[in-house]
Amino acid sequence: MGSYNYLGFAAKDEYCTPKVVSAVQKHGWTTCSSRIEAGTSEVHTHLEAFVASYLGKPAALCWGMGFATNTTVLPSLVGKGCLVVSDQLNHRSIASGVKLSGAKVKVFLHNDMIQLEKILRDSIIQGQPRTGRPWKKILIVVEGIYSMEGDMPVFRKIVELKKKYNCYLYLDEAHSIGALGKTGRGLCEHVGVDTKDVDILMGTFTKSFGSCGGYIASSKEVIEHLRSTSAGFLYATSISVPAAQQIVSSLEIISGVDGSDRGATKIQQLKDNANYLRARLKEGGIIVLGAKDSPILPLMLYQPAKLPAFSRMLLEHGVAVVVVGFPATPLLLARARLCISAAHTKADMDYAAKILIKATNMVSACYLPPVGHIT
Ligand SMILES: Cc1ncc(COP(=O)(O)O)c(C=O)c1O
Repeated sequence: MGSYNYLGFAAKDEYCTPKVVSAVQKHGWTTCSSRIEAGTSEVHTHLEAFVASYLGKPAALCWGMGFATNTTVLPSLVGKGCLVVSDQLNHRSIASGVKLSGAKVKVFLHNDMIQLEKILRDSIIQGQPRTGRPWKKILIVVEGIYSMEGDMPVFRKIVELKKKYNCYLYLDEAHSIGALGKTGRGLCEHVGVDTKDVDILMGTFTKSFGSCGGYIASSKEVIEHLRSTSAGFLYATSISVPAAQQIVSSLEIISGVDGSDRGATKIQQLKDNANYLRARLKEGGIIVLGAKDSPILPLMLYQPAKLPAFSRMLLEHGVAVVVVGFPATPLLLARARLCISAAHTKADMDYAAKILIKATNMVSACYLPPVGHIT
């Protein structure tokens, strides 16, 4: 329960694995080249067209790493004279990309829509510091599921604000693509927002697709601009062809192109598993964060000193979880982060719940959270 194998595609699969093996035999392990040199195969171009049509966007582009997608795309989209309005809990790759871009950044408290609107309104009224000139662009950046909280943004409101203040919106779907929405199309499908209302859809292939790499889906103009300016696209080795084939094959299953209902079944199973384990842990007296249907279950331990004992105790019983403390979380909000998979069986989850409840009891004299922590 420590890794992000949301739909179980990281394991051997009757549909994907033979296709990946054929791709290795045909193309080898790696392109040994960047996309603009000799690193583009027909699998890459097919993958990009597939991602664009799956997400209902005119075009898409892929990078060899999800982290590098954010860090090398944001500097191509914004720079000096631009403003990025970023959720406090956005991933490090977003923070790094914004920093590299040279744009001014203003951070709003996690999911605080009143503060977000105030920042947008005040920034437009005041313009750029010192000169008062209008901002060249204002870009709101949020995630589909926050990786340490397991919750989602107040997305309809964000889209409403983006339209009201005429800003751009960048959505990082690393954890929500494949996992949310009836057909795995992510947060937009989950909350009923048209993907046309999101300027930049970003995501990674490391969670739901059992592979690696990242994508951007957007307008043709944005994609062509990124193709010629994103350093991570121009100067880094492309996704290895077998890994790209794994994404294409798992996406065929997720979208039902393979002709089966395996994708739909896996997506539903993931939600059922996450909701089942969350309920079991809560019944056991554990404080678990995260939204309904979210595959991320942060199990609150609070004191950082409990983390090593908790983690070791679980490993001794064959349960792997990630424990997270300061500086990734505030000092007194240490936690274990569970990631659920459609591949977990009910027996796996019952066993894990038993061990997790036992271990939490052993490391905690009481479960009381620090004053003011909302559960
Ligand atoms: C929100 C978010 N964006 C980007 C990334 C980086 O993606 P990758 O691990 O595929 O490089 C992660 C990694 O977990 C993430 O959580």
